[in-house]
Amino acid sequence: MQKPVEGFSKFTKEEKIKWLVDQYCDNPKEAGETLRRYWHQDPHVQKRHDEFIENTLSNYYLPFAIAPNFLINERLYAIPMAIEESSVVAAASKAAKFWLSRGGFKATVIGTEKVGQVHFLYHGDKNKLHAFFATVKESLIASAKPITKNMEKRGGGIKEIELRDKTHTTEGYYQLHCTFETLDAMGANFINSCLEQFADTLKDEAKEHKPFTDREKNIEVIMSILSNYVPNCLVRAEVSCPVSALGEDDIDPETFAKKMVQAVAIAKNDPHRAVTHNKGIMNGIDAVVVATGNDFRAIEAGVHAYASKDGHYSSLTHAEIDDGIFKFWMEVPLALGTVGGLTSLHPLVKLALEILQKPTAKELMQIVAVAGLAQNFAALRSLVTTGIQKGHMKMHLLNLLNQLGATEKEKETLVAHFKTATVSNASVKEALENVRNGHHD
Ligand code: MEV
Repeated sequence: MQKPVEGFSKFTKEEKIKWLVDQYCDNPKEAGETLRRYWHQDPHVQKRHDEFIENTLSNYYLPFAIAPNFLINERLYAIPMAIEESSVVAAASKAAKFWLSRGGFKATVIGTEKVGQVHFLYHGDKNKLHAFFATVKESLIASAKPITKNMEKRGGGIKEIELRDKTHTTEGYYQLHCTFETLDAMGANFINSCLEQFADTLKDEAKEHKPFTDREKNIEVIMSILSNYVPNCLVRAEVSCPVSALGEDDIDPETFAKKMVQAVAIAKNDPHRAVTHNKGIMNGIDAVVVATGNDFRAIEAGVHAYASKDGHYSSLTHAEIDDGIFKFWMEVPLALGTVGGLTSLHPLVKLALEILQKPTAKELMQIVAVAGLAQNFAALRSLVTTGIQKGHMKMHLLNLLNQLGATEKEKETLVAHFKTATVSNASVKEALENVRNGHHD
């Protein structure tokens, strides 16, 4: 019977582990050993990881890989990816290589605007609120100067504060809708600090505002928080080539181009397909976002909201054949940072950014968008030709063999065997049994 715990965050790491494994694990000794086995050998590095979050017991490993040969705006990148799904890096690498000989990827940043909002209640004369806002706007900006000073020196800061009337949704509800330029920082802390300052200043100034009645003076702030929906922090990634240049051994270029356009059209119109289609894009996006220490939940939330911007959930990518040219492109909102956050703290994040030639946030937006586009191209290419399972299961083979406890020698034999045979759970099990019984050819 498990019991609640008091003051857990104050326990030492060993006390936490002991409490946990005794309460929840079938084999406490083994569970404790598993947690300790994944500690970093250098206690300083481990301490740094411990301090990222509360109640750290161990580290959770994800594979860190690179997809080489990405030609983006004439520059060649090896893109770091942190992801567990077997086929993602292979697919990205394949798409990179495909487009390397066809002019590579182009990427353009369309905007870098970040958003934050102060949500508040005001009960009274609307015109008086608008007049008050006009007089107080400069004070709001001035009150945040200590926070914005350094950002302004580098060319960023607050772009605009707008009063938005939301009373049609909730009685008395208004917003300060604020936009920011945060340069190479993702900017969440910067934005939230500015917003909380705006909220305080707004309340204080309202109390002193002579034309307000007592009721009107009493502005009630509900919350102040950045928005992860950033449709104006947008990047475009694209590829194009003559349809005739799309062919490879297994594919007739005209049929392939048409099927690609049809596959995208299906995802534009059918949400069931669109979600999976976009999930494939996020395979590429998230893997780079995680490897570079950015917030993949923020990116996921913002990208999916953007996929619904026209009133229904739709494909993020677009494809067309125009005068014999195949064009494939995507626009996605990506609020990313290359300074701050984990960027200088996590050794692998630091290295990932070095591998990417220390990109600015704008360059990282381009790289990440290209990784997403490449992933979608690779997925659709498989789907409209061989089907996805062939490549997927090939990549999954080692996982299946590891699950079955295959030795290195057995793995070698069976990887060779499955070069020409179909991988499935059953076929791998059977082939391993055959090898073990000496029946293998
Ligand atoms: C699997 O992780 C992603 C795919 O399902 C994407 C797609 O269907 O386009 C292959």
